[in-house]
Amino acid sequence: MNKIVEKKELAPKIKQLDIENPEIAAKVSPGQFAIVITGGKGERFPLTVAGADPSKGTIRLIFNEVGKSSKELGTFSVGQELRGLAGPLGNPTEIENFGTVLCFGGGVMSGPLLYIAEAFRQAGNKLIVAIGARTSELLIFKEELQAIADKFYVCTDDGSEGYQGVDFLNDVLKEKKGDYALAMSVATATQKAICEITRPFGIKTITSLTPIMLDGTGMCGACRVNVGGETKFACVDGPEFDGHLVDWDLLESRKRTYVAEERTSSLCYEMGEEFASAEK
Ligand SMILES: Cc1cc2nc3c(=O)[nH]c(=O)nc-3n(C[C@H](O)[C@H](O)[C@H](O)COP(=O)(O)OP(=O)(O)OC[C@H]3O[C@@H](n4cnc5c(N)ncnc54)[C@H](O)[C@@H]3O)c2cc1C
Ligand code: FES
Repeated sequence: MNKIVEKKELAPKIKQLDIENPEIAAKVSPGQFAIVITGGKGERFPLTVAGADPSKGTIRLIFNEVGKSSKELGTFSVGQELRGLAGPLGNPTEIENFGTVLCFGGGVMSGPLLYIAEAFRQAGNKLIVAIGARTSELLIFKEELQAIADKFYVCTDDGSEGYQGVDFLNDVLKEKKGDYALAMSVATATQKAICEITRPFGIKTITSLTPIMLDGTGMCGACRVNVGGETKFACVDGPEFDGHLVDWDLLESRKRTYVAEERTSSLCYEMGEEFASAEK
């Protein structure tokens, strides 16, 4: 159970793991997430499921190595087992034939976007797909997403590939107004920017929120977000919400609550790794 059967490096610090867990593989739908525990002292942290193969009993997770836990996960090799994997958690993406769907994937979240966009396609939607990243080498699943898109765009923050920034989407929507939109990104600022672009066009825009989570089952309250003036728990009420109703400033400030501790923990982990390799 939870054995890693395949591992790939998709881009610098972005890894993909296929993990054996027949129960999750049989039940998961696009948009849901899993909670990972790497080892004995590892914290629980959420990753969106980026694919599943029920016949092989595997699920796919794609993650950025940003802090202690994700860096530790990145050290796992094929054949090793994770201490824990809980899921599927959260609600699946609402998949219907909406007409034309604008799908945006930022950085690592282009991975889960592919799983969701394939489901939109199968439901008969036309797809405008745009992916973005800080720089060209961090763009993932370009060919795969382009293959299922009716229109496909790339953007980077530094302009090293495609458009610079996401503002070009204004022109894209002026030319062909979408009927529905989905914005996937772990960066709150990017999700907010996409929602502000779609708002004047009146396009309902769903965003998958990434607040701090602990249990992932509605018990601890760590993932509280404010949507349309109401408090919601992202793990059980979401993780996807109407992005035009999200209080982005509150979400961003809550996400930054433990930045100092996260940096310390990440540094201590890296130093520990260095000491361990120096001792070998
Ligand atoms: C429902 C949900 C789904 C998610 N899906 C995915 C997914 O599919 N893929 C994915 O990659 N992530 C995903 N995330 C985000 C992921 O859970 C977090 O990135 C993860 O918890 C990181 O844990 P960590 O211990 O490695 O880092 P943490 O210790 O939690 O630190 C993370 C944050 O600390 C800050 N930080 C840490 N180190 C540094 C540094 N050296 N310099 C500057 N800032 C730093 C950054 O703000 C960073 O975002 C998801 C989150 C949620 C809530
Ligand atoms: S993570 Fe604990 S309530 Fe959502």
